[in-house]
Amino acid sequence: MLSSNCHEALNQIEQFGLGKKYQMITFGCQMNEHDSEVMAALVENLGYVETVNPEEADLIIINTCAVRQKPEDKVASLLGKFSKLKEKNPNLLLAVAGCMTQQQELAHYIKERFPFVNLIFGTHALPRLPELIKEAIRYKTVVVDLSEDYSNREGLPVVRRTFYKAWLPVIYGCNNYCSYCIVPYVRGQERSREMDNILNEARSLTAKGVIELTLLGQNVNSYGHDLPKKISFPDLLLKLNNLDGLERIRFMTSHPKDLSVQLIDAVSRGENICEHFHLPVQSGSNRILNQMNRHYTREYYLTLVKKIRDKVPGVAITTDFIVGFPGETEADFNDTLLLIEEARFDNAFSFFYSPRKNTAAAALPDQLSNELKEERLQRLNNLQHRISEEHNKSLLHHEVEVLTEGNSKNKPELQTGRTRTNKLVHFEAKGLKPGKLVKVQITEARTWNLLGELKGD
Ligand code: SAH
Ligand code: SF4
Ligand code: F3S
Repeated sequence: MLSSNCHEALNQIEQFGLGKKYQMITFGCQMNEHDSEVMAALVENLGYVETVNPEEADLIIINTCAVRQKPEDKVASLLGKFSKLKEKNPNLLLAVAGCMTQQQELAHYIKERFPFVNLIFGTHALPRLPELIKEAIRYKTVVVDLSEDYSNREGLPVVRRTFYKAWLPVIYGCNNYCSYCIVPYVRGQERSREMDNILNEARSLTAKGVIELTLLGQNVNSYGHDLPKKISFPDLLLKLNNLDGLERIRFMTSHPKDLSVQLIDAVSRGENICEHFHLPVQSGSNRILNQMNRHYTREYYLTLVKKIRDKVPGVAITTDFIVGFPGETEADFNDTLLLIEEARFDNAFSFFYSPRKNTAAAALPDQLSNELKEERLQRLNNLQHRISEEHNKSLLHHEVEVLTEGNSKNKPELQTGRTRTNKLVHFEAKGLKPGKLVKVQITEARTWNLLGELKGD
């Protein structure tokens, strides 16, 4: 039995962040945002409290993204700025984490170029964060953890800033190795979470008032294939659909090659499963899709879109595009534009191709110039924006269900929220709290959002 003094001493060791502040800066996708929620909880357990002001932080964690060059450049410029902070406050602990630093080369680059960084670790080291911080405080040299061991993430704490909606990872990693993509290298092989762990977490979230869950995975459709007791993603969705208190279930991302008829059925049957598929197509050219290692054709994809629209009335389908993949000709690009006309996406997230070191596509000949990539991206966006606006216009005068999220950032006099199909709606409603499901009649439609009027019950 430990004496109470001893307990105090232990507590002091574990709570070495008491009286100190941390700032979390996150780049990248929802999975990274969720990782930041876990890291925030781990450092809050050490006693740190959050600040958004780097000037007053004792610990700054930058959670990085490596999917394209742009987010990497942003991290470099941020670190450049933080060198001054370190001069002012030599006790500031600076940590760089996430997908950039999971790569040896980039971790090495950060160590050399920004020698004042105290802690560098990758995505797999996340559960060890408390010990890593402890080491970084104790030793004066930089602490690096690029271990490739997939850590067990069950049972880690999470800080969630909104009480009515939450992210819930269902599968980590990716096995697909699309030729342009860094994600499998920095997130490792697919690991599905046990269904009971997911259901228990979902139950505990609904007990705290969460009514909307977004299930996360690089490819949610491959959920379950690696579990001892096989279970599919549609099975999981239908189990969650029966959970008391849960009103909306979202999921992302779906790889087209693994999207099953059972999934479409589940969305059509499950009254709490939102009518929205994010189904990245990347390109409309069969030649480029093949080079991208995507394992489907434009014809297969368009058939899938048709099946979804036939089975799920009012569904929204969104997508991602990569423009200017190596060797993309005007004819290939034209196939992409034609596919957009045919699929009529509600929205698209489009990027120009960014070569990622050590991926297959980076070594391909015929890399396109930035000017050409930008010009094509512009043409693609012009077309997609017109179609997005047309979709929004089709909602004019309709009544939609909106989950309120508080005041609009740009127009604080308006409330904002999302439809089940993930469209942004602004409307006037004084005193309405976030986290409420309300009915709104659409009065104006724009490319990016809708305006509406709050209806009574
Ligand atoms: N797992 C998801 C996507 C993860 S990355 C999926 O398979 O759909 C998110 C998006 O970034 C991708 O859909 C792709 O459009 C884009 N992307 C990935 N690598 C890229 C690269 N090297 N250059 C430009 N865009 C890229
Ligand atoms: Fe990247 Fe392809 Fe995996 Fe998506 S499915 S994360 S694009 S490798
Ligand atoms: Fe996400 Fe970027 Fe990593 S998109 S998985 S944070 S490389």
